[in-house]
Amino acid sequence: MRDPASAPAANANPCSACANSGRRDFLLDALRAGAIALAAIGFSPADASAMPLRLTSALAASGTEKSYALPSADGVQIDKENEVILSRVGRQVYAFALACPHQNTALRWEGGDHRFQCPKHKSTYRPDGSFIEGRATRSMDRYAIRLVGPNVVVDVDAIVQEDLDKARWLQAFVSVP
Ligand code: FES
Repeated sequence: MRDPASAPAANANPCSACANSGRRDFLLDALRAGAIALAAIGFSPADASAMPLRLTSALAASGTEKSYALPSADGVQIDKENEVILSRVGRQVYAFALACPHQNTALRWEGGDHRFQCPKHKSTYRPDGSFIEGRATRSMDRYAIRLVGPNVVVDVDAIVQEDLDKARWLQAFVSVP
């Protein structure tokens, strides 16, 4: 038989500290579950501010024109087979030649630094391809690009060099509707 002296009073208030503790544990559990789910798809906290990189390939090709799905978020995609880089920055999408404009070395995307870098002589470029520093004497070469339905079409035969046609180079991008 229970000792009446140890039984809680029928009208006692619930412990507010216990209620807060329960809510806190629930939120911590939810945060942990979210972190595990993001880790499972390869997301790291550094990606939150970086533009992620992924490999891609053309959906279709017609002569020198290669078709890609319009990137749905900021990031960099590299199509090694066709030597094309796609970069989405905000609402703008650019297509670049993979080759460094200095001596044609394949460029790399340094997500943590938010820039392209040439592994040979360390020239660096912004996500829109504009030159930052290094031995190169111009920005990354852009390809003519246009929107076609849900895709972008890149003409790898229509390369635009900044030093030869600056006005055209500046216009070589598409705006996401
Ligand atoms: S080949 Fe890229 S900077 Fe020289």
